[in-house]
Amino acid sequence: MNNIQSYIKENKDRFLNELIELLKIPSISADSTYKNDVLKTAAIIKASLVKAGCDMVEICKTDGYPIVYGEKIIDKNLPTVLVYGHYDVQPPDPLDLWNSPPFEPVIKKTALHPEGAIFARGACDDKGQMYMHVKALEFMTSTDQLPCNVKFMIEGEEEVGSSNLAVFVKNNQEKLKNDVILISDTGMIAQDVPSITTGLRGLSYVEVEVTGPNRDLHSGLYGGAVANPINILTKMIASLHDENNHITIPGFYDKVEELSKEERAEMAKAPFSLDAYKKALDIQAVYGETGYTTNERNSIRPTLDVNGIWGGYIGEGAKTVIASKAYAKISMRLVPHQDWEDITQLFKNHFESIAPEGVTVKVTPHHGGQGYVTPINSIGYKAASKAYQDTFGKTPIPQRSGGSIPIVSLFEQELKSKTILMGFGLDSDAIHSPNEHFGIFNYLKGIETIPLFYKYFTELSK
Ligand code: BES
Ligand code: MN
Ligand code: MN
Repeated sequence: MNNIQSYIKENKDRFLNELIELLKIPSISADSTYKNDVLKTAAIIKASLVKAGCDMVEICKTDGYPIVYGEKIIDKNLPTVLVYGHYDVQPPDPLDLWNSPPFEPVIKKTALHPEGAIFARGACDDKGQMYMHVKALEFMTSTDQLPCNVKFMIEGEEEVGSSNLAVFVKNNQEKLKNDVILISDTGMIAQDVPSITTGLRGLSYVEVEVTGPNRDLHSGLYGGAVANPINILTKMIASLHDENNHITIPGFYDKVEELSKEERAEMAKAPFSLDAYKKALDIQAVYGETGYTTNERNSIRPTLDVNGIWGGYIGEGAKTVIASKAYAKISMRLVPHQDWEDITQLFKNHFESIAPEGVTVKVTPHHGGQGYVTPINSIGYKAASKAYQDTFGKTPIPQRSGGSIPIVSLFEQELKSKTILMGFGLDSDAIHSPNEHFGIFNYLKGIETIPLFYKYFTELSK
């Protein structure tokens, strides 16, 4: 692998330009207005895999957006790496908070990215990170250094719950057979602090609707005499946490595993500055469950958050009205062993039970998924660790993330293989947020590190 660095140097501009072209297409899976753009993106990924040296590439139809599948099988007796990624992106709104249009990529330097970062929706999540794998494959095939078999499975519905991918995986066990799954769709601690994600949180996402009177009412004529759905909804939501920011839903913590003192001490060794954290977010203080540190609160502990709330009059000026209905979207991030369907049921039962007389409550589950943890003594983890050691000159730190990629636990269940999460984004890259970006350093480091993973995984598998 001594010439990966020179390969990157020679091809750097092309690698950046190809990613920029990919980022120009608004492949927003949540909004059907962009259907053609999502499909066009799948076609471009297909072509890029062919160019990178796959023997067979196909666009697999599903009930939703297609899955791009590609493979290069060099020897049935060698191990097989299955790469997963997604080509869909989150909606870019609110548009007015972007400093440049979300689908017109620009390169700008930032404090954390002195070498420049590409600003565009999907730059980090996940087009940039997924495309690192395509370029790493290109390097390995064009220099005759692919040490094992490789399969690619790039989907277009990750940001909307991957329900069709779940069906595809269940129906294609043989095709997808592999020895390890490799994903770059997470982050790392800092440019000079490489880390490997060893855990993801699960998710239960629900929508609630509180209905009071059968129509909107004059808030003077009726105010004080009937239940106001917005008042009631906010009260119900507030009651879901106690004074210690513990979630009050009965049974919610039953399956939550308490980490040992040793494990928590190990976690606390990861470099972290609370001051820098607060400064980056312009907050005076952090907030969360009593008894846990910030890094614990956002990784090994489950949470409940309102993601959106609406109802009543929100136009200009004042309108005196008691709305008939109030709504909220609520997410619960879960930890391994908490089953998302059980938690959804617990939420539903509890939320309905705390509704006062005078309103009716409807809870609609959206989607969810299980959490994931992976051991650090597997061949895959060791191979990844050695790869980072080579390219960063440091042993990467294992770290559990607060985010979710629900399909990962399904991979383990259906394909019986472990997933290695080699993420190269930074938490400050603003994924799902205005001004999302991905560092050029991170993009190129990823392309450099991935081929080493293949090499060490193949060697360690012997
Ligand atoms: N790539 C993210 C998940 C992620 C980001 C994990 C950073 C760890 C670190 C993924 O695309 C995502 O956004 N997942 C959603 C869940 C999905 C069901 C919409 C999430 O975590 O909110
Ligand atoms: Mn992602
Ligand atoms: Mn995402």
